[in-house]
Amino acid sequence: MKRIFVTRRIPSEGLGLLKEADVRTEVGQSDEEAGLSREALLEGVQRADVLLSLLTERVDREVLETHPGLLGVANCAVGYDNVDVEAATRLGIPVSNTPGVLTDTTADFTWALLLSIARRIPEAHSYTAAGKFRLWGPNLLLGGDVSPGGNGRKKALGVVGFGRIGAAVARRARGFDMEVLVHTRSDPGRLPDEATRVELDELLERSDFVSIHLPLTEETQHRIGAPELRRMKETAYLVNTSRGPVVDEKALVEALREGWIAGAALDVYEHEPRLTPDLAELDNVVLAPHIGSASRDTRNRMATMAAANALHHLSGKKAPNPVNPEVYDSEAWRNRRSRASG
Ligand code: GLV
Repeated sequence: MKRIFVTRRIPSEGLGLLKEADVRTEVGQSDEEAGLSREALLEGVQRADVLLSLLTERVDREVLETHPGLLGVANCAVGYDNVDVEAATRLGIPVSNTPGVLTDTTADFTWALLLSIARRIPEAHSYTAAGKFRLWGPNLLLGGDVSPGGNGRKKALGVVGFGRIGAAVARRARGFDMEVLVHTRSDPGRLPDEATRVELDELLERSDFVSIHLPLTEETQHRIGAPELRRMKETAYLVNTSRGPVVDEKALVEALREGWIAGAALDVYEHEPRLTPDLAELDNVVLAPHIGSASRDTRNRMATMAAANALHHLSGKKAPNPVNPEVYDSEAWRNRRSRASG
């Protein structure tokens, strides 16, 4: 019987789909608090026809070369920077992801972070829960406006990266009567009426909120570093729900400490899950543990998409969401598939 190696326990609907199929499913790590060790990953792949991975596993060349019969990698995430797709393509291994289903959930969470940092919601909660709210005061926990607010000036949201999630974040700005500035190197398609495409420097200089929506690649690593943070307004906030290494976290800590910017709300970290020293001690940050897509329905849907991709990989059929579709035309893939069936 064919085997799918699922690195860590995915939401139940995904596992259910695999159970219904005529395959053996092995879950490498069921303890939510523990990660899968490198040895366990390599061992699991050795026995597997298909790997279903999470963003916590580095699926590099060594992993991909572990088993010459490996028929595919189904990554249960929209981002796939944890997989060496170039090596997979060279080896004839299809790789798939879970695009689309988490767009709105992640865009909602981006806004939740944006509002939280501007209006100091975590601080307000801690203050109230600690019993410190004894007297209402006109200066209590003053924050920044998102809508035009007291001074009547429309605030500018800068969206860096304009894929599905960036576009969904931009659409939501209409409800806050904001101006939207978009920076993207690829074709953004049709922009919302209130949005303008600008260069990154202009976006940084004009935005009251800068929200990052870039995939992590060699080119986007540290796209936001000290020079970019220095360009931002002292009253502006940075929000990152994409990938941590897009922001130079050491520079960010300095920017927050020295008041180059007003605050930052982060869901992702440069050395995830470790935080850069001093980041957590700052009072102008809101920090979340990479939960942008973490609604029950969305995570279940991601798991079923990844399971469906995995089953397609297993049967040698084109997966619904391949990130390297060109692999299906390659000699390497044809050889791999015939080795597996022969
Ligand atoms: C989450 O970060 C994802 O890429 O799905």
